[in-house]
Order: sequence, then structure tokens, then C-alpha cells
Amino acid sequence: MKFLKFENEIEASKYVSQEIIKEIKENNKAILGLATGSTPIKTYEFLSKDFSLNKTDWSKVSSFNLDEYLGIPEYDEQSYRTFMNKTLFNNINIKLENTHFPNKENNYDDLISKAGGIDFQLLGIGVNGHIGFNEPGSLENSLTRVVDLTEETIEVNAKKFFDGDISLVPHQAISMGLKSIMRAKKIILMALGKSKTETIKKLIKCKNFDINFPASILVSHPNVTIVYDKECLNNEI
Ligand code: F6R
Repeated sequence: MKFLKFENEIEASKYVSQEIIKEIKENNKAILGLATGSTPIKTYEFLSKDFSLNKTDWSKVSSFNLDEYLGIPEYDEQSYRTFMNKTLFNNINIKLENTHFPNKENNYDDLISKAGGIDFQLLGIGVNGHIGFNEPGSLENSLTRVVDLTEETIEVNAKKFFDGDISLVPHQAISMGLKSIMRAKKIILMALGKSKTETIKKLIKCKNFDINFPASILVSHPNVTIVYDKECLNNEI
């Protein structure tokens, strides 16, 4: 694992957006694994800005999002599909039919491998170390499946996206598994801000997979970069 520190969220997001643009320029049919949540919002803003200024061509790019809530309609205001359409897909020339989310019917891991596998996977990280919605207890060989969200994740997401109303947050989601994520050729995990300090300190210390800390799976991946900002951690690693 390589660790890269940036001055702040803006600089970190600029870097990640440039890495994504580089990926697309090298391979106009790139297959991207994308994340939702608060962490990638600025990155998606930079990618949207880049499209309006430089017209980077997304017309042949495909995307596979990590996860989607269950129990709310696909185009609900709070669905991850809606989030991605608003923050990125509507602002670039990606074809919506090339953008994918897991659901109970679509055999997501097969769909990803038939497309050729994920070239570049973007990840955020939960305070409890979850990646995608692979909560503590997720197995090393887990594939895309229905998952129960922990109380902690429900509370965090209620604060960030549901005006603090826990009753509005779905209790289940469908998420790529740890094994699905590990199949990506290259991974960038972003950790921004104070709330992730302890999580990243823990990740730095990982040597092996710890079932209680899902992000630890990444230690055995050959191409992972952890992008963090000074607010998260002011140390060089
Ligand atoms: C979202 C996802 C989650 C988030 C994580 C961090 O698609 O897979 O693992 O990356 O919950 O969320 P934020 O970015 O809101 O801190």
C-alpha cells in the first residue's frame, strides 16, 4: 500500500480526478469502479469541470458502482443511482446504459467480469473500516450480496444525507464483496477529514486481513494508493 498525503480535500480530490482522467486517456474503454458518499464529491466536481473545459471523452467508458441501498426506488432522491447521476453522470458524456449498480437480479460479479474487469476502483472508507458496504464480519472471499448495515453506519449516513432522521435510512444494501473489490487492477482509497483519523491509523498498522476491519483486505493487493489529507492525518507514512 502506498500512502499519499495532500494539503486538503481540494488537493486530494484534484489528484484523484487527474488519475481518473489519465486512466481514461490511456484507455478510452476504461472500466471504472465508483463510490458514493461524501468523500468523492469534490473529485466528481473536478471531473465534471474537466468535461466542460477539456471534453475528456467518456463515451466508451463503463462504470460499476460499489453499492446501492435496498428498499428505496431506483430513482429515489436518496438512491446511489440518483447521487451518481447528479454528481457526475449528468455532467459528462458517459452513456447511462454503460453505468451499472448492483441489484438482486443482475449477477453483478459476472457482469463485471464479462465487461473485462475493473481497471480502476475508487473507494471511500467507513469509520468502522468498511469498504463498499462490507461491514466488519465480511468474509475475505465475499462477492456481491445483500448486506445489513450496522447501527453505526446508519447513524453516520443519517447525519450526512438524511437530515439526521435514522428512520429514513435503509437498513440493507447490496454491495460488491471484498473479493469483488480485490479483483480491480488498481485501487485508490480516499480518506478525508478528522472523522477518519483513527480509521487510517488502524489501516496503516494492518499486516494481514482482519475480519473486524474490512479495509485490511487491501494489504494484499498489489496496486493500492491511500490518498489522505492533513486534516485526516498530518504524518508522512
Ligand atoms: C459508498 C461506499 C462507502 C463509503 C463510506 C464512506 O459507495 O461504498 O463505503 O465510501 O461509507 O462514506 P463517506 O465518504 O460519506 O465518509
